[in-house]
Amino acid sequence: MAHSDPQELSVAPRGPLTGSLQVPGDKSISHRALMFSALAVGESRITGLLEGEDVLATAAALRAMGADIERTGAGAWRVNGVGVGGLLQPATALEMGNSGTSTRLLMGLVASHPITATFTGDASLSARPMGRVIEPLSQMGAAFTASPGGRLPLMLRGISPAVPITYTLPVASAQVKSAVLLAGLNTPGITRVVEPVATRDHSERMLRGFGAELTIEDDPAGRIIAIHGEAELRPQTITVPGDPSSAGFWLVAASIVPGSDLVVRNVGLNVTRTGLIAALRLMGADITELDRREVGGEPVADLHVRHAPLTAIEVPPELAPSMIDEYPVLFVAAAFAAGRTVARGAHELRVKESDRIAAMAAALTACGVACEEYEDGLAITGTGGEAIPGGARVASLLDHRIAMSMTVAGLHATRPVVIDDIAPVATSYPAFYKTLDDVSEEA
Ligand code: S3P
Repeated sequence: MAHSDPQELSVAPRGPLTGSLQVPGDKSISHRALMFSALAVGESRITGLLEGEDVLATAAALRAMGADIERTGAGAWRVNGVGVGGLLQPATALEMGNSGTSTRLLMGLVASHPITATFTGDASLSARPMGRVIEPLSQMGAAFTASPGGRLPLMLRGISPAVPITYTLPVASAQVKSAVLLAGLNTPGITRVVEPVATRDHSERMLRGFGAELTIEDDPAGRIIAIHGEAELRPQTITVPGDPSSAGFWLVAASIVPGSDLVVRNVGLNVTRTGLIAALRLMGADITELDRREVGGEPVADLHVRHAPLTAIEVPPELAPSMIDEYPVLFVAAAFAAGRTVARGAHELRVKESDRIAAMAAALTACGVACEEYEDGLAITGTGGEAIPGGARVASLLDHRIAMSMTVAGLHATRPVVIDDIAPVATSYPAFYKTLDDVSEEA
């Protein structure tokens, strides 16, 4: 799982992106599909699963806790679950690699089982805050021995029966919300999460699909999500839609590279995930939806994107939860827009796979783009459509989205952009560079 050898890549400018491509399965939904299937009694089938390192870390951990998980073909998986409450004591530490979602959601699962698990991860994951899940799961009765600052490696001693709680999210985080809901699955009574700001709702949708009793109520305090404990999950057949976060790289790439005309197929368009599309449209991007349909209980469409002149905007902070993973590539779009784009209210970017504000400020500045860093965001002065200077070696900092975003920037640069390590791309989008070769040629 660890990226042993750094893989440097020099990105040369490219001609237009044309034709069509299919994005891989949604990472958030893939994790959840495996986890919920592992808790159902009987056999679930999953197609379109993202086979990136993060999701494979989830599969390995669930196997280590007793689930029978088998790959039957490309993106096709079969899971025989242990039933809610049936997770077994893992024999060795759970190696989470780079994956925050695996870690935080599985901590929720373990918390209400009478088992003890140790979670370890790579240098990036070991620097990320886990206090945000330790806090509510401790209230439910789980015990933690964490590294200083509430970080990995950590040991979690679960408890059964756990105590149902009502927890108001102090940060807008679907991972924290999901961790509490997953702990609530094996907890007697009703566990509630109050979400003042809406975040991605894949857990809620899929838990209902698996037959859990889950209610959502709109309240002045926010959305109140209640899960009835000691649930019985029924096995499902799940088709995972394409990942809008992976699509984002192509939407920006085709918008900035002159002459591009690209169809990105099978993109999940759950409104809790579409902030980047909204922001790009505000900037003047030419993105149209084709063939809107439903896949796996989620809205999906093909997106037709053509090169277009972009104009700077003030990115509406209320879009942050629905584009939290897309800021790095939005910053790249801003580097090619006319004027100064300002994105604030995105403090959470500092605790992602890297500090994405600092990482993108450093990388874009090295490539000759004027950036001003704020505690909670970035201002970027764009070229108005011209190539950026490039000619720099930038650090991806064990962060797949920094590596892919700076690759996109390099597609329209005067001199090559060298990325010190693209190995992390395998966590979420193993076919990214092959697809890039399929839809474009070096200029
Ligand atoms: C995710 C939630 C988000 C996101 C991450 C995936 C999820 O994290 O950044 O890539 O699948 O629930 P936060 O919950 O920390 O915002």
